[in-house]
Amino acid sequence: MENLKFLKDVKGAIFDLDGVIVDTAKYHYKAWKRLANELGFEFTEKDNERLKGVSRFESLDILLEIGGLYFSEELKQAVAKVKNDWYVQYISAINESELLKGAREYLVFLRKKGVKIALGSASKNSKIIIDNLRIENLFDVIIDGNKITKSKPDPEIFLLGAKGLELKPSECVVFEDAYAGIEAAKGGGIYAVGIGSKDDLPNADLNIKGLYELLA
Ligand code: G6P
Ligand code: MG
Repeated sequence: MENLKFLKDVKGAIFDLDGVIVDTAKYHYKAWKRLANELGFEFTEKDNERLKGVSRFESLDILLEIGGLYFSEELKQAVAKVKNDWYVQYISAINESELLKGAREYLVFLRKKGVKIALGSASKNSKIIIDNLRIENLFDVIIDGNKITKSKPDPEIFLLGAKGLELKPSECVVFEDAYAGIEAAKGGGIYAVGIGSKDDLPNADLNIKGLYELLA
């Protein structure tokens, strides 16, 4: 298949974290739902889809819109901190068992082939997660929410990843589970593999269910 041929010769791989390497989306959901419930409204798993790949403050804006609430900037800062404190509490106990199927194996496989690897995650909590999963040694470059000025779908995060790897965007591939993340990759001229169905991620160059499929 033409698409798999591209992956075979790629020089750099840039990975989103939540939903690609580790199943943290459920903890983000748990914390956002807890916040919504305390604020007096429901927040469903379907609503949560809209927050994938979206920064913390933009996520809060979407959540408040769903609840029909308007908060001052100051109050928004305060409730975002509450949500993040809960989230950090949930992920502080995360361990290697929560790595998604094939994730570590695929990273190791790429490294053995000499492919350079970057992280491209909007999360400001990436470091705790990567440390707890004991996979920091598998990345050459880490670009996270603390290093970017523009959120996905802006390509900044992945362009910084490619630059960090000293490669051209066209020599890299991005692995993403969020629509906004695929948009960011494509906007930067980077080949995008979507972890998710063609229905959810119609903008991806290739759709797979998980990284384990690429090990077959
Ligand atoms: C990832 C997740 C989003 C999350 C964002 C910021 O992109 O997919 O759901 O909102 O990171 O995460 P943070 O840990 O900084 O709140
Ligand atoms: Mg993600």
